[in-house]
Amino acid sequence: MDAATHNEGLPATREPAAPAPAPAAQGWWRDAVIYQVYVRSFADSDGDGVGDLRGIRGRLPYLRALGVDALWLTPFYASPQADGGYDVADYRAVDPLFGGLADAEALLDDAHRLGLRVIVDIVPNHTSDRHAWFRAALAGDPTARARYHFRPGKGPDGALPPNDWESVFGGPAWTRTADGDWYLHLFAPEQPDLDWDNPEVHAEFEAILRFWLTLGGRGVDGFRIDVAHGMVKAPGLPDIGRKEQARMIGAQELPFFDQDGVHAIHQGWRRLLESHGPDRIGVAEAWAPTTERLALYVRPDELHQAFNFHFLRCPWEAAAMRAVIEESMAATTSVGAPTTWVLSNHDVVRHRTRLGSLERARAAALLLLALPGSVYLYQGEELGLPEVTALPDEARQDPAFHRAARDGETTGQDGLRDGCRVPIPWKRDGGSYGFGPGGSWLPQPQEWGALSVEAQTGDPDSTLELYRTALRLRRELRTDTGETLAWLPVPPGVLALSRPGGLVCVLNTRDEPVEIPAPGRLLLASAPVGEDAGTARIAANSCVWWAA
Ligand code: NOJ
Repeated sequence: MDAATHNEGLPATREPAAPAPAPAAQGWWRDAVIYQVYVRSFADSDGDGVGDLRGIRGRLPYLRALGVDALWLTPFYASPQADGGYDVADYRAVDPLFGGLADAEALLDDAHRLGLRVIVDIVPNHTSDRHAWFRAALAGDPTARARYHFRPGKGPDGALPPNDWESVFGGPAWTRTADGDWYLHLFAPEQPDLDWDNPEVHAEFEAILRFWLTLGGRGVDGFRIDVAHGMVKAPGLPDIGRKEQARMIGAQELPFFDQDGVHAIHQGWRRLLESHGPDRIGVAEAWAPTTERLALYVRPDELHQAFNFHFLRCPWEAAAMRAVIEESMAATTSVGAPTTWVLSNHDVVRHRTRLGSLERARAAALLLLALPGSVYLYQGEELGLPEVTALPDEARQDPAFHRAARDGETTGQDGLRDGCRVPIPWKRDGGSYGFGPGGSWLPQPQEWGALSVEAQTGDPDSTLELYRTALRLRRELRTDTGETLAWLPVPPGVLALSRPGGLVCVLNTRDEPVEIPAPGRLLLASAPVGEDAGTARIAANSCVWWAA
């Protein structure tokens, strides 16, 4: 397929389309559906097998028609790609893999013209080891060294790391440099941690945020803040005294995560965002030991959203799911913030595979879309894509995988994150199923054709059409659903909730159908519903929406 054919879906970018998003009275993010674009795997315009900004531009009409409110773009900055771009060498440049600054501006223009907001990723916990600051630090410049955590090692000749901290990707969180000192990296050695006690680090990141907030005039609509909980470390960098620290993330206190000092940074960023208008948002990728600690990130003077990752670890069981909903809402409501639901992202096994079936994945999506708050969708979940588990080792790029392969057993992240990052299928056929005019940086499985956008469009039973309908109904209901819900009595293994305005959502997590009194007019279901004389028969592992 040549580039012209591949880009036939490109919008007439200079023509006026839908009006730009109107300022929202209540804060647009409070109930927004935000679509995560994993840039290298969404759409490739130039045939190098890697997705790019022009590719995304060409697919904006698809996203507009899907019915999402905003996009979150994963990092597309200049980077050696040691961790899929989360190792940034220049925060003000687009990596040539993905295009140039002019492409970023054009993408923002096009998205805004279509009524879509755009959030970009910012990576403030660490830079790339190729960033000019770190290169200068390695060359011995003391000013540059003071922007990172350099320490002498322990032991008679300093041959032991300065403390016992482990990297999230496995192995020690310290690497020794040629001059004998060590530097801290909570992730890969190519991702040295910045020292946020240094005012120069603050000033530089404020300048970077302003750069993107004003790019091309209107700029971006906000930032997804990577490792927002890790920027401040406990004074003195104390030992932890336990192994397998990465397994405790989000479950226990750690001296490198969720320190009280991070909040002052985010409060400063909130002021900066507001100085560019009321609609610019910050969303924290934050892991905290309790929902109450997580809620601190979304206090009124802090960030607008924090991802709620509880469903990533929740079993397929109605009572457990209800507990997640209740706890999450109680915590965020206590600070006046909305919840921010997530089923999948580029770091976890796709939820179709995690939950065990497509039926459950479809049902889970309907549940989340019925809840108060905002929902983040991960590209490809609207196609019901499974995790790709059969990738050859040599194709894998996750740094945690290679660290594990080199060092043996890892105690960190599993290193299998490539399986959810396989480029998504747009067409039934073709070298990369319409991903681009060349190949695909990770091999796509054969089933991709049948799961493609082309194959599912117009099929009323497809997952894509289910998402389209759900998003349309959610938009139509939006004005009167409020931010609360009430629980309705149902049998074990089932949960039922109603929203102000009359939406009733019933989820059956059992492996057999259940019958309940039909609560209203059937709106949408993830599997066929039987209705007879006021009784509704809800299929196993399915979810149904009614208008009461
Ligand atoms: C979280 C990102 O989502 C992940 O992909 C990345 O590896 C780490 N932060 C480090 O930046």
